[in-house]
Amino acid sequence: MSALLEVEALSSGYGPVPVLREVTLDVPAGTIAAVLGANGAGKTTLLRTLSGLLRPTGGRVRYDGADLRGVPVERLVRRGLAHVPEGRGIVAELTVEENLRLGGLWRRDRADARRAQDEVYQLFEPLARRRRHAGHQLSGGERQMLALGRALIARPKLLLLDEPSLGLAPRVAAQIMALLRRLCDNDGLTVLLVEQNVRSALSVADQGVVMSLGRVVMATPAAQLRDDATLRHAYLGF
Ligand SMILES: Nc1ncnc2c1ncn2[C@@H]1O[C@H](COP(=O)(O)OP(=O)(O)O)[C@@H](O)[C@H]1O
Ligand SMILES: [Mg+2]
Repeated sequence: MSALLEVEALSSGYGPVPVLREVTLDVPAGTIAAVLGANGAGKTTLLRTLSGLLRPTGGRVRYDGADLRGVPVERLVRRGLAHVPEGRGIVAELTVEENLRLGGLWRRDRADARRAQDEVYQLFEPLARRRRHAGHQLSGGERQMLALGRALIARPKLLLLDEPSLGLAPRVAAQIMALLRRLCDNDGLTVLLVEQNVRSALSVADQGVVMSLGRVVMATPAAQLRDDATLRHAYLGF
C-alpha cells in the first residue's frame, strides 16, 4: 500500500535561495512522522512547501494518491490537508468562537462543522470556558489549542504541525502529544510533526526524520531513535 503522503526529491527555497534539497520521505496513513533538526534545518520550509505556500523548484509530492504540484491552497484544504503554522496563525482580534468558525467557514456540511466545533470544545476544555475571549487574551497553551482546534474542524486527513509545543509548559505539551496519538489511533489522522522538543515528539511518533541543512539525513522508526543512544548522539546531539 502506498503512503498517504509521499515526498520525492522535493526542493524549494525563497526566491533564488535554495533551502530544501531533494527531500524524500513517506508518511503512511494513521501515523505520526516527527521532523527533527536544528534551527534553520528547513523544517518550516518543508511544511510551507507541502501546504502550497511555497512553490517547489523540483521533485514530487503525492498526497492521497494524487500529484500536488500546482494545486491551489484552498483545494488542498478541501482535500483534507491542514497546516498549523509556526507562531500558530490565529486571529488575535477575534474571539475563540469566531476563530473556530473560520476553520469551518468553507465547509458545505454546516451541521458537521458545528459538531466538529463541539468536539473541539470537549477536547480542549479551557477553550469552551473562554469562547467569548479574544485570541490575544489567551495563554500560550490556549492559543496552541485554538490553532489545533481550528485545523481539526476541517476534519483533516493530514495535519502539518509546526512546533506545537513551543513555549508551552511540559504538561500541556505532553497533553497535546497524547491527543495527536489518540487522533491517529482512533480516527486515522496522519501527522507530520515538526518539533524542537525531540523527546516529547519521539514519545508519540512512529517515525523520526532528521533534517540538516535542507536535507533529510536520517529517517528511521521513532523507537530506534528513542532507544539507540549512539544514533541520538550522532544525529540529535544528546
Ligand atoms: N522568508 C524567508 N526568506 C529567506 N530565507 C528564509 C526565509 N525563511 C527561512 N529562510 C531560511 O531558510 C532556512 C531554513 O529555515 P526554516 O525552514 O525556517 O528552518 P527551521 O524551521 O528548521 O528552523 C534558514 O537558512 C533560513 O534562514
Ligand atoms: Mg521552523
